[in-house]
Amino acid sequence: MKPLFIANWKMNPRNSKDAFDLAKAVARELEDVEVDVVLCPPFVYVPQLLPSPNVFIGAQDAFWKQEGAYTGEVSPHMLKNLGCSHVILGHSERRKLGETSKMVAKKVQAVLDVSLIPVVCIGESIEQDMNIILKDIKKADVSKIVFVYEPEGAISTEPNGQQASLEQLERALDRMRRLLPKVAPLLYGGSVNSKNIQGFMGKGVQGVLVGAASLHAQEFIRLVKNAILR
Ligand code: PGA
Repeated sequence: MKPLFIANWKMNPRNSKDAFDLAKAVARELEDVEVDVVLCPPFVYVPQLLPSPNVFIGAQDAFWKQEGAYTGEVSPHMLKNLGCSHVILGHSERRKLGETSKMVAKKVQAVLDVSLIPVVCIGESIEQDMNIILKDIKKADVSKIVFVYEPEGAISTEPNGQQASLEQLERALDRMRRLLPKVAPLLYGGSVNSKNIQGFMGKGVQGVLVGAASLHAQEFIRLVKNAILR
């Protein structure tokens, strides 16, 4: 599996031209680099961003039904139709708005149902959340889920947000691996940048989920290139 870099743009940038330019710069600079990148813009920018062989398009959430009377929601089926391949689910910023692990579990299933890849964020209550999320997932589907260890306090935009220590990451990965098949990919997220990326990659994650640093094309490109430096 190639190293995987997921860019969570959150509610940025402010206009579609900036979104287009950011995606274009990233795709151009990384086209010959042996990595997979997933750009996750706000829903409204998804239709204008085209995937390339190693730069995929993802979403930051999806609902658990494919269509119907659900005001304001967007379905996995719709995202699939627009060319998305990944969907971030259960981000702590969504959990703060009331999303529970039971809701995340339903979303994971709906995303798998249309053959999209769920990218599921897990905070400190690793066993509790993962057990709820994995409870009804078919065995064969479990290793299709990309789990990200992303403690809320590690997110750069949180007050006093600080990257997880490498020891903290190691312990979390151990706990997560106990609940997953060997081949399941694991990522880290939280204050990752071009300077600290190598430390995280050295702990055996397949890649990272990047927020703030993914909004600056040159910083994100540097981060990806530094991650694979030997
Ligand atoms: P950060 O965000 O890289 O700015 O800490 C990561 C995330 O929230 O997914």
